[in-house]
Amino acid sequence: MEISKIKGKSISETLSTDVKEVNGSECAEPVEFDSLVEKAISRRNFLNGGVVFGASAFVLGSGVLSPILANVKSSRLAFETVKANSLDTVTVPAGYNWHTVMSWGDPLWSKGKSFDHASRGDGQSQELAVGDNNDGMALFQHKGRNIIAVNNEYVNRGIFHGNRASGKAETADDVRKSKAGHGITITEIAENGGKWSIVKDSFYNRRITADTPVEITGPAAGHQTLKTGADPSGFMALGTFNNCGNGRTPWGTYLTCEENFNGYFSASNKGFKQTKEMKRYGIKNKDRGYNWASEDERFDLSKQPNEINRHGYITEIDPLNPNSTPKKRTALGRFKHENAEVVLASNGHVVVYLGDDERGEFLYKFISKGKYVEGGDNRELLADGSLFVAKFSDNFSGKWVELTPRSTGFKSKAEICINTRIAASRVGATTMDRPEWVAAHPRKAEVYCALTNNKNRGKKPNAGGDKTPVGGPNPRFNNNYGQIVRWQPSNNDHTSIEFSWDLFVLAGNPTVHKDQNRGSNNITAQNIFNSPDGIAFDSNGLLWIQTDGKYSNKDDFAGMGNNQMLIGDPESGEIKRFMVGPKEAEVTGITWSGDRKTVFVGIQHPGEKGDSHFPEGGNTVPRSSVIAIQRNDGNRIG
Ligand code: FEO
Ligand code: CA
Ligand code: CA
Repeated sequence: MEISKIKGKSISETLSTDVKEVNGSECAEPVEFDSLVEKAISRRNFLNGGVVFGASAFVLGSGVLSPILANVKSSRLAFETVKANSLDTVTVPAGYNWHTVMSWGDPLWSKGKSFDHASRGDGQSQELAVGDNNDGMALFQHKGRNIIAVNNEYVNRGIFHGNRASGKAETADDVRKSKAGHGITITEIAENGGKWSIVKDSFYNRRITADTPVEITGPAAGHQTLKTGADPSGFMALGTFNNCGNGRTPWGTYLTCEENFNGYFSASNKGFKQTKEMKRYGIKNKDRGYNWASEDERFDLSKQPNEINRHGYITEIDPLNPNSTPKKRTALGRFKHENAEVVLASNGHVVVYLGDDERGEFLYKFISKGKYVEGGDNRELLADGSLFVAKFSDNFSGKWVELTPRSTGFKSKAEICINTRIAASRVGATTMDRPEWVAAHPRKAEVYCALTNNKNRGKKPNAGGDKTPVGGPNPRFNNNYGQIVRWQPSNNDHTSIEFSWDLFVLAGNPTVHKDQNRGSNNITAQNIFNSPDGIAFDSNGLLWIQTDGKYSNKDDFAGMGNNQMLIGDPESGEIKRFMVGPKEAEVTGITWSGDRKTVFVGIQHPGEKGDSHFPEGGNTVPRSSVIAIQRNDGNRIG
């Protein structure tokens, strides 16, 4: 599809016309945007079942989501659509069931205390228990045991410190508890009588928190700007926090992704002057309710201005060795990391796709210097490699631009790995609508990224002053709903620098809008959603989509109900709602049991605005939880 064939206009030109129409409020049709987006969406003509690009033929999976309903046999999504709702529970299709596996505050060791709904725990009990706000996760099988690593992204201060009038950390022990509510929970789980639960006191159980020693590796390790009073070497940090999405490597390690690391730092000297490098990461002098700086000088910018440079990385963890030291992989860049999707390129290099979740920030990929060797020592493959940022063109092509001293003007690779956003701005990377999770198709070279939403699109630059023009994979002004972009590397080679792209879905609401905000053709009144966030492929090539968006169920979001999980078929374009989450929660994090008969799903921050008692009901404190979903007939679920 050459752009010249689309009435001789570029997407930007076409869309700027459209924006004027939107601003003119009439939203008259026909909008040229529509045909353009339809073309972008139907490049592979999936609504007709054809495949336009891609040499590798795709064989439909069998056995996945095998039909529960006779009348939907022709679809690969053979379950009854779950209707949108605003209930304070999890809703799954007929023929499926769910149960809670673990919740914030559940003890991992028998010396820990059961969660106390009145006090909501203290520093000591929290250090022995599941952290708050579970996000990305992965299950590892080892010698017949099941070990799950789960990110605990942040704590909902109002709930976590709900025993305090201020709803914030007030005492030293509150700060200790808060730091222990963050990080990663690693625990063995087992299935008994059809229900999964924590194996208390397992050898594998471990909490990694904001105070755990973490080695700094790669180009930025030991750099002048990473040296602090407590660590003059710049090689050993304490803590990993705001761990959002995740990744896993072919050599069996877990990747945890430090996202909004800026939010824990503040300055006791109110006159503290931030550097431009700090400003690019949204660092503020004022505390945001965590109050960590009052108890730990590391978080006081005016006392330890370099500590912040030690956070914002991908951290690699060996989930099977509770005594191992996690490693920050600075070679993969420093930004607000969403997840880390690892693929093995056909030439043996390890490629990691990475999103930076902020309005107008970028999409990256890392290519390892070394090659993966089956059965070899692959442990340091993420220590060294090349970092690239994506530049999308309106004509459905794109390029990965390498961030080097020459291309960015920085003096060293270390500086690029510390100030990655600035480096990417200098090469003119494409500002995106908040890149959330990236997911690679398991059977062919094709990669998807959820662009969750961006109210600033077309209106406001990113924090570095880069413009956010409407166009390319970010085709809507003031984007409320989000979209999923996908790309195919040229020659089906993940290390190639060229790619072609299209949109898998443009979320929207056809019951409210007739213009571009109605969404793409694969959005109907039955599957409407907003703000795609967590995405992952199952072993059969179906794309599971989790949302973190508006749950008001009115106006632009009428009919969407609570946040939800859908399944998309990349070949047909079909998308169906599989699950609805409880009130005021986001659905995030997904992994499967080894036999694929259970899918584990994360429910984060139920009741963030005070209206949920998930999962226990009654008057209980709402608690983020990992749930397990299974089929009643015991068949596979992905
Ligand atoms: Fe932690 Fe971008 O979500
Ligand atoms: Ca997310
Ligand atoms: Ca999100």
